[in-house]
Amino acid sequence: MTAHVDACAPLDDLTAYRHTLGAFPTGITVMTAADGEQRVGVTANSFGSVSLEPPLILWNLKTSSPSLPTFRNSGHFAVHVLAWHQEEICRRFATPLPDKFDGLEVSDGLGQAPLLEGCAARLECALVHEFITGDHVVLIGEVKRYQNLHREPLIFFRGATRWFDQPLVS
Ligand SMILES: Cc1cc2nc3c(=O)[nH]c(=O)nc-3n(C[C@H](O)[C@H](O)[C@H](O)COP(=O)(O)O)c2cc1C
Repeated sequence: MTAHVDACAPLDDLTAYRHTLGAFPTGITVMTAADGEQRVGVTANSFGSVSLEPPLILWNLKTSSPSLPTFRNSGHFAVHVLAWHQEEICRRFATPLPDKFDGLEVSDGLGQAPLLEGCAARLECALVHEFITGDHVVLIGEVKRYQNLHREPLIFFRGATRWFDQPLVS
């Protein structure tokens, strides 16, 4: 079988560039933090593991995000790996809203980071490094507590949410 090969697309075509990045399937997370009364949550698929010893993870947030000061000031954040049925949660935390937590059942995690229910896995982190590069800030967290809830994940691929057609073999 011969693979179809596209000519190289120009980097100033942002739509083509985004579509190309969409060829890489990812999970979806919601990152949360709190600073006093201020609670924030952001849908992010830039999550990744950096180091096992010590346990470090990273994700990127756009520098223009109104949530950034809270993630910085809190010093802690929680990572929620979304489960297959949490499409509404994905959409809610990807939308600028006055209170993204309205009507949700949450509890307090490390640094008062709001903990959401129903996800596939949850990690509570201390913010240990951050640096700005391009139009995003890279946030690196040291994992202090984690829970694997063994639910199947929500997936992001080609700009849309998806789930596995077949159950994962455990
Ligand atoms: C599947 C998905 C993944 C996303 N990943 C990121 C990400 O990694 N970093 C980011 O800054 N925004 C990401 N976004 C966009 C943010 O969720 C969105 O801009 C949100 O409104 C940010 O919260 P804020 O309004 O409090 O800044 C993603 C959106 C979706 C739907």
